[in-house]
Amino acid sequence: MKEDLYNLAQEHLVRYGGDVFPTLFTSAKGTIVKDSQGREYLDFTSGQMCATIGHNHPAIVDAVHRAGEKAFHFFSGMIPEVVAELAQTLARDWLPGDLKRSIFINTGSEASEVALRMAKMYTGGFEILALGGSWHGITGGASAVSMASDRKGYGVPVSGIYVIPEPNAYRPYIDKATEEEAALANLDLALKMFDMQSTGRGAAIIVEPVVSAGGVLVPPKAFMQALRKAADDRGMLLIFDEAQTAFGRIGTRTGAEYFGVVPDIMTMSKTLGGGLPVAAVSTTAKIEDDIHSKKFAFYTSHVSDPLAAEVGLAVLNVIQRESLVARANVMGTYLRGRLEELQQRYEAIGDIRGLGLLLGVELVTDRTSRTPAHQLGALTTQKCFERGLSMNIRRRPERGSVWRIAPPLTVSTEEIDRAVDILDRSLRDSLDELAASKAA
Ligand SMILES: Cc1ncc(COP(=O)(O)O)c(C=O)c1O
Repeated sequence: MKEDLYNLAQEHLVRYGGDVFPTLFTSAKGTIVKDSQGREYLDFTSGQMCATIGHNHPAIVDAVHRAGEKAFHFFSGMIPEVVAELAQTLARDWLPGDLKRSIFINTGSEASEVALRMAKMYTGGFEILALGGSWHGITGGASAVSMASDRKGYGVPVSGIYVIPEPNAYRPYIDKATEEEAALANLDLALKMFDMQSTGRGAAIIVEPVVSAGGVLVPPKAFMQALRKAADDRGMLLIFDEAQTAFGRIGTRTGAEYFGVVPDIMTMSKTLGGGLPVAAVSTTAKIEDDIHSKKFAFYTSHVSDPLAAEVGLAVLNVIQRESLVARANVMGTYLRGRLEELQQRYEAIGDIRGLGLLLGVELVTDRTSRTPAHQLGALTTQKCFERGLSMNIRRRPERGSVWRIAPPLTVSTEEIDRAVDILDRSLRDSLDELAASKAA
């Protein structure tokens, strides 16, 4: 029967890209997901970076029930009480500066569309600066500013997009004495090129506080501050895409808090829903008043849905009640330490980076050449999965294979130890297997 379902999936589902597993999945709880053969996996991807409070947290289950007793959905113009509560909670407890007005939608891609539409309407411009290696979503506008997405085969992209090379301390485009100097030199050159090409109709700079899909790159603080200035100097807005970084993952309330930079618009998604489709975009009253006067619109079937808001509120409450922001730092330090032990034993682990519980481990053939070890990354990831550890590897030709290691913030030290043990054995076996096949 279960075999049949797997075959049916092959026959009737559109293949939508990304890593696909050789089995179907049935349930999830905390850090563990289960497949239809009853096998358990430690989920060190947090379900595509969403389940920061652990899969199927009882508070989320309760929130879904609560919403079910009241309403899942209304006409778009009927604002549910719980949406007002969530908007207040975000403004009061989580967002920096004057980010006081929010809109609630469902996915990160949608949130990027909202943010870009806001910036274009407010400034009257259309040009957008985005970072190399960025990922802001798969829909039209969002994919146009996503340089880690595959752009081939989908026709003419949105025009007016310019790229700032991403700061990458391990593989700098421009090498300087310090990481900060290199990042600033990069930016300086990119802005010169942009100013040369610009029609003078700049709208926004959009950036992830940690360039995650692009290889878990943490820009220097001075780089983010320089982006703030670059936007101001050009009358553009600064958009932070905090799909992954908001609400504790990196050990601060938001990426904005970590960098000490307040954006004009912030997008939030994955970590707000804890596994359910909830997204938000927040901006200042000044910007919102202005675009409202120009008839800003983003009414979708599911804007301001009560179910999404009930879940979002529950997730934020759990993060506060269980002190998960602080926990991300404690567990992140522990996990990083365990990975650094492996690094001492494996030449192939070239770099370990990241913040809190958003860590990147870059694989190389050797530390001198830093040649990307793609085969090793793919094989080890597969062996980890076979042994019960689900890991996400980011592979780009221009950079190494990078594991993005991001378990739920509720992960235990025992789970981390089990995961590191699986990683250790899988890496050893993969290196042996690749060496043997080379020798043969
Ligand atoms: C930083 C960032 N922004 C936006 C998105 C798009 O979110 P969604 O997949 O929910 O549309 C993602 C998804 O991976 C992301 O990582």
